[in-house]
Amino acid sequence: MSTLVIGGAGYIGAHVVRLLLDRGEEVVVVDDLSTGAGERVGQATLAELDVAAPGAQESLEKLMAERGVTAVIHFAAKKQVGESVAKPAWYYQQNIGGMANILAAMENAGVRNMIFSSSAAVYGMPDVELVREDIHGRPINPYGETKLVGEWMLADCERAWGLRWAALRYFNVAGAGWPELGDPAILNLVPMVLDRLARGDRPKIFGDDYPTPDGTCVRDYIHVLDLAHAHLAAMDYLEGDAPLAEHVFNVGTGEGASVRQVIDTLGEISGLDTTADVEPRRPGDPPRLVGDPARIKDVLGWKAEHRLEDIIRSAWEAWQAGPRRIG
Ligand code: UFG
Repeated sequence: MSTLVIGGAGYIGAHVVRLLLDRGEEVVVVDDLSTGAGERVGQATLAELDVAAPGAQESLEKLMAERGVTAVIHFAAKKQVGESVAKPAWYYQQNIGGMANILAAMENAGVRNMIFSSSAAVYGMPDVELVREDIHGRPINPYGETKLVGEWMLADCERAWGLRWAALRYFNVAGAGWPELGDPAILNLVPMVLDRLARGDRPKIFGDDYPTPDGTCVRDYIHVLDLAHAHLAAMDYLEGDAPLAEHVFNVGTGEGASVRQVIDTLGEISGLDTTADVEPRRPGDPPRLVGDPARIKDVLGWKAEHRLEDIIRSAWEAWQAGPRRIG
């Protein structure tokens, strides 16, 4: 019996792989290594494969049968909002095509449980303090659309052949559970600020005239290790045959932090001068996006243990353990 972690060599996937190995599970990782790195998967078996490529379904099916896979955790997807706007068809090919191959392979191989990496991007620009899972999702870019469609595919497979599934809608993931597993990409606020500082530049704030307390955008920052634990809670939830009360879960803290608060916290923790330059607004940014975490607490018994300071401190330590140490 083993768990197949698709995208397990990536930032979030590698944290989940490590927790699964730590609790003694057999883990098989599939990753195309386009952004992931093989050394992140530890003792897990690694198969290099692009799930959206021709022939991927057959390869996955074979792997699932050979390795006695009983559950799939699916992280592998393209995740850059701007790129998805520029190349929508490619995003659908990658994210939806890949998902279709995985689900078809699961059906044929008789693998019944799946946990899917969804995103708060499914909500678009909600005008509420705390976003609940049952508000009508209106994504505003192809990336968010592929995540919502992914959830629909899971629901369709449940109806058709009894798939047991949970979709975790991640809010703003940051930090590191171990210094060597920090976020290697420079795509989100915390790494982007660290990248600027490493170059000797000032951080940038994209807009300080939003209708928020300090004028900068508010997000729900979630520690990657808390998020990884949410996957284990979801795996346990899918085990057995009990009917599943819910399928879609916010993974957030319920508390918002502004861009300025994040940058100031990094300044306090690192001792660096993090004075930022204010730039124009970035198109498509909702002023506030904070998730209501009530459902995941009630149904999965999970709640975030780490707060903003822990997230930023761990991100800072991971950055300093890497090749671009500051100071
Ligand atoms: N920001 C800055 N300066 C920077 C980088 C970001 O001010 O140098 C701001 C952004 O404008 C935004 C906030 O910091 O207001 C957070 O930006 P991120 O890019 O880190 O994250 P987003 O909230 O835009 O995106 C996240 C996920 C996406 C997902 C989206 C919606 O990274 O995958 O939430 O759920 F689509």
